[in-house]
Amino acid sequence: MWLPFLAVLLGALLVSASPASTSVGKRASSQFVSTGPAGFQVNGTPFKFIGTNVYWLSTLNSDQDIDNTFASIKAANITVVRLWAFNDVDAIPVNGTWFQLISNGTDAVTINTGPNGLQRLDTVVQLAQQHGIYLILTLTNNWNPRPLLDNINGVSARDVTPGTNNSLPRNVLSNDYGGMDAYVRRFGSSLHHDQFYVNQQIIDQFKNYATQVVNRYINSPSILSWEIANDPRCNSSIPSSNNCNPQTITNWSATISDHIRSIDPNHMVSSGNAGFYCLGCAKLFPLHPPTPAPPPPKVSPAPGSRRRRTAEPLSPKERLLEQWSEDRKRKKERKKRSVRELQRPANLARTPIRGRWTSTAVRRQGEVLGPAFDGSHGVDTEDILNIPSVAFSTFQLFTDQNTYSPPDSGLDPFNATVQVGLDWIQRHIATASQFGKPLVLTAFGLVTTENVPAFIPFNQTVAPTVSDQAGKVSGVTDGQRNDAYGQWLKAGIAGGINGLTQYQWSQSNLTGHDGTTVSSSTEGNTASPNQAATGVSPNDGYSIAGTGQNTVQQVLGSASQQIAPNT
Ligand SMILES: *[C@@H]1O[C@H](CO)[C@@H](O)[C@H](O)[C@H]1NC(C)=O
Ligand SMILES: *[C@@H]1O[C@H](CO)[C@@H](O)[C@H](O)[C@H]1NC(C)=O
Ligand SMILES: *[C@@H]1O[C@H](CO)[C@@H](O)[C@H](O)[C@H]1NC(C)=O
Ligand SMILES: *[C@@H]1O[C@H](CO)[C@@H](O)[C@H](O)[C@H]1NC(C)=O
Ligand SMILES: *[C@@H]1O[C@H](CO)[C@@H](O)[C@H](O)[C@H]1NC(C)=O
Ligand SMILES: *[C@@H]1O[C@H](CO)[C@@H](O)[C@H](O)[C@H]1NC(C)=O
Ligand SMILES: *[C@@H]1O[C@H](CO)[C@@H](O)[C@H](O)[C@H]1NC(C)=O
Ligand SMILES: *[C@@H]1O[C@H](CO)[C@@H](O)[C@H](O)[C@H]1NC(C)=O
Ligand SMILES: *[C@@H]1O[C@H](CO)[C@@H](O)[C@H](O)[C@H]1NC(C)=O
Repeated sequence: MWLPFLAVLLGALLVSASPASTSVGKRASSQFVSTGPAGFQVNGTPFKFIGTNVYWLSTLNSDQDIDNTFASIKAANITVVRLWAFNDVDAIPVNGTWFQLISNGTDAVTINTGPNGLQRLDTVVQLAQQHGIYLILTLTNNWNPRPLLDNINGVSARDVTPGTNNSLPRNVLSNDYGGMDAYVRRFGSSLHHDQFYVNQQIIDQFKNYATQVVNRYINSPSILSWEIANDPRCNSSIPSSNNCNPQTITNWSATISDHIRSIDPNHMVSSGNAGFYCLGCAKLFPLHPPTPAPPPPKVSPAPGSRRRRTAEPLSPKERLLEQWSEDRKRKKERKKRSVRELQRPANLARTPIRGRWTSTAVRRQGEVLGPAFDGSHGVDTEDILNIPSVAFSTFQLFTDQNTYSPPDSGLDPFNATVQVGLDWIQRHIATASQFGKPLVLTAFGLVTTENVPAFIPFNQTVAPTVSDQAGKVSGVTDGQRNDAYGQWLKAGIAGGINGLTQYQWSQSNLTGHDGTTVSSSTEGNTASPNQAATGVSPNDGYSIAGTGQNTVQQVLGSASQQIAPNT
């Protein structure tokens, strides 16, 4: 019996020595992107990237348009595209693409595998592979505002009512692809956003959708990761119940992530959460053994050495407040120093300034961490990151829509915004390294003055009016956008981040089709800045279309040379 066995063994050795099979089987040289000792790896080589967001890509009717879009993205040396792999409707639309029907009736939930359904996504995946581009495919969205449906009982139509100014065709806005609230409206036992995370019927429906999409591309090397949701939170345009807390979303993330890994061992799973913390909160997935957080990252070079207290360890909240306090002190010192420098005779040697730590300066009564750190979004990015089946950390950066650390009042508003972004990036770099997983900034953007008329916040369907101060942004210049993007990219790359994905790409010369994301005529949408010209991809306020387009692409291209010199 051992002779035939030996023959088989020899045969196997011979086969594995042939060049055709060398890429098969060996995990370290897998054609699938995976995590290794130094971050991501593919085909045995470390992999880092600059990416862009193109949520509307599978709504394009023309294969040539998809091909052209990938070609221009590749020409900017961008190697990763993040897009929506969901498109839920509550009634079958007259035209346009849809992936899943979630409606009342006998065929309540139907997945569309036809030519205007998942076959569009098939084309995207296939063309991505031809261009050597990797995809982050997002499976649902936290945001799907439907003001009339959500607030007035009995209205069953999509809210395109004249007078609401929401006349944009379906799919133009990133929050108009269905998502969590589409499931909640249909299956929720109450109209609360967090039903999506706890209602077993909804969990099963979403798992079913995820299963069908994942199985379709289970062997495609072009999928970088399955992102289970964009920006999952307790709240949305449908408000949360009082029961939702960070553990609700952590537990749901683990359920879905484990499920996807159980059916697809080839691809990584990522959470897609926006990176909000719940410092000091109880964890479902604590670090074992607990390792102390690394010293807070240096946001900018400290003017002098810093002495740390060695007594009892600080709580995460105390640590963050201490860091903010030290940042403030450093900035004050720097200001004083530059004034002194100006007054000092040129030949005097510079004396080092020693930083001092005083506990009373830190624990000011009533000082608050704010919604990015105190768990009020219902997200604990650290707990989610430590779910074993979650491969890497995700966060987002939208200073026009989210509050992060308090802006430095000593800086002008633009530089303060840049600094807030730098702090956010540094903090996530420290977190990811503490948990030993790679880190991707999955979306970042700033609204320019040119884009202000097109800007629609992620929980709204129409642009904020002038009187609506809450949602109104003033916008930065194209030059400031490039400056901020350049500084954020540079800080991320210097800190060893594994990928940064700008929001959002713009493509022109596309073929227009009625009722889809690309306007086919001057009729109807001319008044809307969201579709400025026929043949141009959607703009929700972050599109790079316009006068600054080439420069933004250069900023991204040059970041790509830094993060992945051999792209
Ligand atoms: C769908 O059916 C449920 C009852 O099963 C009902 O409460 C809800 O109003 C219906 N929704 C629409 C949009 O018709
Ligand atoms: C719709 O837009 C018009 C013109 O911009 C404006 O006058 C009107 O107030 C808007 N209506 C609503 C309900 O926002
Ligand atoms: C949730 O969103 C609603 C608007 O739908 C808002 O009124 C409420 O303040 C939000 N709650 C939290 C905790 O953010
Ligand atoms: C949308 O978000 C803004 C802040 O980003 C908030 O002020 C507003 O209340 C929210 N509206 C809804 C309908 O959730
Ligand atoms: C976590 O989710 C599972 C599956 O949905 C559920 O059975 C369990 O009760 C949840 N646990 C917690 C602590 O929420
Ligand atoms: C913003 O910071 C840069 C240096 O990073 C400085 O050159 C510029 O003057 C600052 N802007 C303002 C308005 O202070
Ligand atoms: C626009 O697209 C068409 C068809 O794909 C192509 O022939 C033409 O050269 C393109 N024009 C520009 C300016 O890119
Ligand atoms: C496509 O659908 C829209 C409504 O979503 C409608 O206005 C338009 O006439 C339709 N176009 C065609 C060619 O059916
Ligand atoms: C893209 O990379 C190639 C090769 O590294 C380089 O020659 C080219 O200038 C880059 N293009 C951009 C737009 O950065």
